[in-house]
Amino acid sequence: MTSLRIVPAGRGLRGSVRVPSDKSVSHRAAILAALAPGETRIRNYLEGRTTAATLSCLRSLGVESNKVVEGELVVRGRGLRGLQEASEVLFCQGSGTTMRLLAGVAAGQPGLTVLDGTPALRRRPMARVAEPLRAMGATVLAREGGRLPPLAIQGGQLRGVDWTLPVASAQAKSAVLLAGLWAEGPTTVREPGPSRDHSERMLRAFGVAVESTDAGAGRVVRLSPPERLQSPGLLSIPGDISSAAFLLVAALLVPGSQVAVEGVGINPTRTGLLDVLRAMGARIDEENLREESGEPVADLTATYCEGLAATEVGGELVPRAIDEFPTLAVVATQAKGRTVVRDAAELRVKESDRISALAEELRRLGAAVEERADGFAIDGPTRLRGAHVNAHGDHRLAMALAIAGLLAKGETVVEGWECVADSFPEFEATLAQVAGREVSG
Ligand code: S3P
Repeated sequence: MTSLRIVPAGRGLRGSVRVPSDKSVSHRAAILAALAPGETRIRNYLEGRTTAATLSCLRSLGVESNKVVEGELVVRGRGLRGLQEASEVLFCQGSGTTMRLLAGVAAGQPGLTVLDGTPALRRRPMARVAEPLRAMGATVLAREGGRLPPLAIQGGQLRGVDWTLPVASAQAKSAVLLAGLWAEGPTTVREPGPSRDHSERMLRAFGVAVESTDAGAGRVVRLSPPERLQSPGLLSIPGDISSAAFLLVAALLVPGSQVAVEGVGINPTRTGLLDVLRAMGARIDEENLREESGEPVADLTATYCEGLAATEVGGELVPRAIDEFPTLAVVATQAKGRTVVRDAAELRVKESDRISALAEELRRLGAAVEERADGFAIDGPTRLRGAHVNAHGDHRLAMALAIAGLLAKGETVVEGWECVADSFPEFEATLAQVAGREVSG
């Protein structure tokens, strides 16, 4: 286990940085490229542990990929009917996206596919993908009454379904849509809230007819099975807003800061945190709006803001900010008043139980956190004090605690730091760049 030692910021954070590419978009680009005949070049494919797991699983299914030049990956697709039956277990590391999306792919294959992962992934709920895939005609076996990994999937001739998801989950929605590529007849997914729509956008980029309509707070997505996928040839992955969030929030909280993050994906299903921060009084500017591979992209600049106000977060904002609650919790410790997060029970089944882990670790730093079944309440502002904290194997918790450490009095040590490799291996160097010095003491 490695740890990061972090000392207070000392002075404002300054500069312009790039962050790693979007994790969600990278997974989807690789999977659809694998299913399209011919080569697809993917510029800025995320070099993280989770996205490497997707490539290695695809390799077991007969899909070759290799890095040609710095930051560009070439995937040699096999077409919808060209995957091979894997002779080994597909090991998804700790990546829920890899397991759930590939479960959808496996359901469409004539052979047997077994998906497994780390002990943390083995605790994450799979009924949300197993049930619809069974309804489509696949056999899906799993532990604990068919709910927990590993998964063993025997695919076959699938039929389209009209499926209502119990939770707003982009991974579950994507599994059903991907299986729908091999189904007879259209597949419809109804979601209770606006989960990220990267799969819908990427499927369209590969020529698949996907319609999406608003329905109350949620959405209905309908996919018509295509004859074949058509590669766009070249895809370019934007920067990950969930990684940018740590730097933007650090700039908002450390006096004298101004930090720009270039080339960040600002898909509206992902920008819930920006909305929440603005409601708290933060200034975040968006410039150079453009589009990359069907995703909106901008350069974002955050400027230190004195006197942020507490806020309440619930309802449709939750799926739009789902990966940013560790970051938001750190902001809440510095905002005036009581910040309340509700309708967010899903946080309990992420890379860690993010409600209890956040409460436990932020309290070690002196924050006033009340844990609730579906969220938390934090009273601020609090002068944090450095302590030894634990990442719970959760990359986003690790980085949020590092930002808290920048604000704390004295030294903070984040134990279990190695998990940042899941999404942001260069975090420490990027933070050092805006701090103008090593951040670790
Ligand atoms: C992801 C969807 C989200 C998110 C996860 C990545 C994806 O989970 O938390 O980090 O790539 O589809 P949900 O399935 O709960 O939406």
